Formats: sequence, structure tokens, C-alpha cells
Amino acid sequence: MSELLKYPGESSNNDLTPDGKAAAHTRRVFLFKLAVGLNVLVGAVLAVPLVGYIISPSLKKGSRTGAWIKIGDVNEFPAGETRLVSFRSPVAVFDDGQTGDIPCWVRHISGRKFQVFAINCAHLGCPVRWFAQAKLFLCPCHGGAYYEDGARAAGPPERGLFLYKHRLVGDSLVIHAGDMPTLATQASCKGDPLVQIQPANAASVTVTTANATESTSWQA
Ligand code: FES
Repeated sequence: MSELLKYPGESSNNDLTPDGKAAAHTRRVFLFKLAVGLNVLVGAVLAVPLVGYIISPSLKKGSRTGAWIKIGDVNEFPAGETRLVSFRSPVAVFDDGQTGDIPCWVRHISGRKFQVFAINCAHLGCPVRWFAQAKLFLCPCHGGAYYEDGARAAGPPERGLFLYKHRLVGDSLVIHAGDMPTLATQASCKGDPLVQIQPANAASVTVTTANATESTSWQA
């Protein structure tokens, strides 16, 4: 059998005493186990984000989806005014940072009548801004405009602003958050009406359900 090349001064196992051979064997076994351990450790470190990426959607779709969230007390919203508030998304996780803070527009019509609008333009989703003197929501992207009740006024949007479902619990204003208030998500809420906003001067609001369309009175 050919002998392996050696570095100058390196001894082969044949030159070692029985104790030296045992020590060399023990060292090789130790280094082998160390290498295996390090590989397992590196593999585990690399696998954590991958596994997290795969299972995070299912973790995010927990019971927090569609939660009712308090966005303020009634007395924080003067009647006749529209104010910007933000709430922490119920599906946000610790590493979402500020992206988990969701803004929305709250319009206090009068008494206990409110509207809560998604900030996203119904065209391509840019954040709309409220101009109190003009009583219009304006979109900076393509010039979309909406009346104070969220109805489409001008520009490329084909419908009004999306509405959050809301209710008053005592003096607290709470909204149904966790889903983007789009036509698709509202339509998926079985039994809940899909509200199509009418222009500000309209005397009624059209309520479309899965089986029927009806009009109900609306007070502005
Ligand atoms: Fe608002 Fe296009 S995104 S008008």
C-alpha cells in the first residue's frame, strides 16, 4: 500500500507509539464530532428564519384576525369633524414595527353616528388626506377626490372610500380590524351587509347583501 505524502518533519502513524496512536485517534474522533456539531448548529440557525417564513402566515391568521379594536372615546371626536387616528393591527407581530400601526379617518357625524374610513384610496391604495375647508378627501397619487361621507367625487377611483364596520361600546368607538376593508373581505363576511356609499346629496344609502339589494335612510 502506498504511503501518504507527509510534510517535512511530520510523522506517520507507523512512527507513533501505541499511546501516541490512541491519542491521535481520540483527537480525530473529537475533531470529527466537533465538525458535525458545528454543521448541525449552523443548519439550525439557517433553518429558523426559513421555518418562520413558512409558518408565519398560519400564525398570523389566528383568532386576532377580525378583532374589534377600540380607537378612541366618543368625546375625542368633536361632532362635525373628521380626524385621523391610528390603531395597532391585531395581526401585527413584534417585528412589524411601525408597519403594524394602521391609520384611518374617523368622521363624527352627530350624536352617536360615526363613519370610519380606510385611509387607502379606492383606486390604487395611496393614503388619502382630509381637507376640512374643502370638505374633501384628496388622493395625492392620481387626483382622486371623495366627499366628506366617503363617496367618490372625482378622479380615477370607481367607488367611494372603504368603510370599517364600527360600533359604540359605552363611550368607546370600536372598529372591526384585522382585515383590510375591501369589497372582497366584506363580501366574505357571511350575513354582513356590503355598504355602497352614495354621493353626499343622496338621501339614502344602498345596502347590498348576498341575496338582495335594499335602500335604507341615511342621515348626514
Ligand atoms: Fe388614489 Fe390613484 S391611488 S387616485
